[in-house]
Amino acid sequence: MKVENRQKILTGIIQAVNSPLRHYMFFESPKRFCKYVKPGQTVLDLGCGGGYFLVDLAKRVGANGTVYAVDIEELCIGLARKRFQSTQN
Ligand SMILES: C[S@@+](CC[C@H](N)C(=O)[O-])C[C@H]1O[C@@H](n2cnc3c(N)ncnc32)[C@H](O)[C@@H]1O
Repeated sequence: MKVENRQKILTGIIQAVNSPLRHYMFFESPKRFCKYVKPGQTVLDLGCGGGYFLVDLAKRVGANGTVYAVDIEELCIGLARKRFQSTQN
């Protein structure tokens, strides 16, 4: 690959990584979404990955609620379980 092309691609990636949209997607939007989760509700975290939202969702639904965390990757389920368990002590 030509050096100029590599630089263009790299520049594009860095701009995307630093964009305000990414900040919104990862920090603002989830917080706004999570506020609708109330005590006692049942929530499906589909594609839970490493459980980024799992702990917060579990706190919000409380002892009378349920969170189903589902992922196609077994590795992710293990990471999500570990992350959740580490907050339970
Ligand atoms: C971009 S990650 C998001 C993980 C997590 N929700 C987060 O925000 O940190 C998308 C996740 O969806 C999972 N995934 C993709 N297709 C899926 C499917 N058909 N069923 C369940 N999980 C799926 C992937 O394995 C991956 O962990």
